[in-house]
Amino acid sequence: MTIHRPILLIGGGGKTGSRVARRLEALGRPFRIGSRSATRVFDWKDRDSWAAAVDGAQAAYITYYPDVTVPGGVDDIDAFVRLAVDRGCRRLVFLSGRGEEDAERAEQALIGSGAEWTVVRAAWFMQNFSESFFLDGVLAGEVAFPADGVTEPFVDAEDIADVVTMALTQQGHAGKIYDVTGPRLMTFAEAVGEIGKAAGRDIRYVPVTVEDYVAALKEADVPEHYIQLLVYLAREVLDGRNESVADGVSRALGRKPRDFCDYARDAAASGVWGA
Ligand SMILES: NC(=O)c1ccc[n+]([C@@H]2O[C@H](COP(=O)([O-])OP(=O)(O)OC[C@H]3O[C@@H](n4cnc5c(N)ncnc54)[C@H](OP(=O)(O)O)[C@@H]3O)[C@@H](O)[C@H]2O)c1
Repeated sequence: MTIHRPILLIGGGGKTGSRVARRLEALGRPFRIGSRSATRVFDWKDRDSWAAAVDGAQAAYITYYPDVTVPGGVDDIDAFVRLAVDRGCRRLVFLSGRGEEDAERAEQALIGSGAEWTVVRAAWFMQNFSESFFLDGVLAGEVAFPADGVTEPFVDAEDIADVVTMALTQQGHAGKIYDVTGPRLMTFAEAVGEIGKAAGRDIRYVPVTVEDYVAALKEADVPEHYIQLLVYLAREVLDGRNESVADGVSRALGRKPRDFCDYARDAAASGVWGA
């Protein structure tokens, strides 16, 4: 009988981590969550908390909060990867962002680490509309964001979790970079339209300038570092560089990625968007 050491899931209560946790549970694989509220506290802002979280873990899923592009993010990933390898963690899976230069710099820490590494480089998550920064807009019937006309191949966090779980638990994924996207390019207006249809509500996308967007976030008391992150994503990551679909989901899983309609139907059925 193979005895498996636990897998550390950093941000294991988050959008992708919680889904990976559910899959590991179903597989009967031991895991532990690394976050500020976990039993074994892991805080990216407190390096003294890292060793206890990773000690004894055979593999780690690394997500950064709120995004690896915030100041200090790449250094933190680099330092964590070194520590994890020193402490005997042999397999590392990193959630990266498509088209983000800092995320690609962080990937280098894994690639040079000596561990078995896999990079999952994700497009924008569909779940941003139901579990993250666009939820309030959807509930209010109006999603205002500076992304007029840009298309994005939104990816389902369920697909990301399938790829990550496979990379954490099975052979054959070491040394691979999986660019994971959904099956089609969509504008924000189209995405919000699908959500309206699935939720049976009138919800519209409103294109705004970056300046107006920032002013609205400030008025809503959104923290400055979070505003900077959203502006970076709108100005740089959504400048057209990611207007293509990629085959990471089918390369890793041998099946097509889930469509936005499937996501919207399931999210609507969960009740997250109201009646
Ligand atoms: N959203 C997208 O469209 C998108 C696209 C591509 C890549 N990404 C990448 O995805 C990553 C985030 O992954 P995710 O969306 O699955 O996670 P998430 O939902 O943002 O993760 C939230 C979790 O992080 C924990 N957390 C918050 N602050 C922390 C800290 N200081 N130290 C440790 N844990 C902390 C929280 O738990 P506690 O409250 O218990 O600490 C929470 O459960 C980012 O690096 C982002 O760049 C996102």
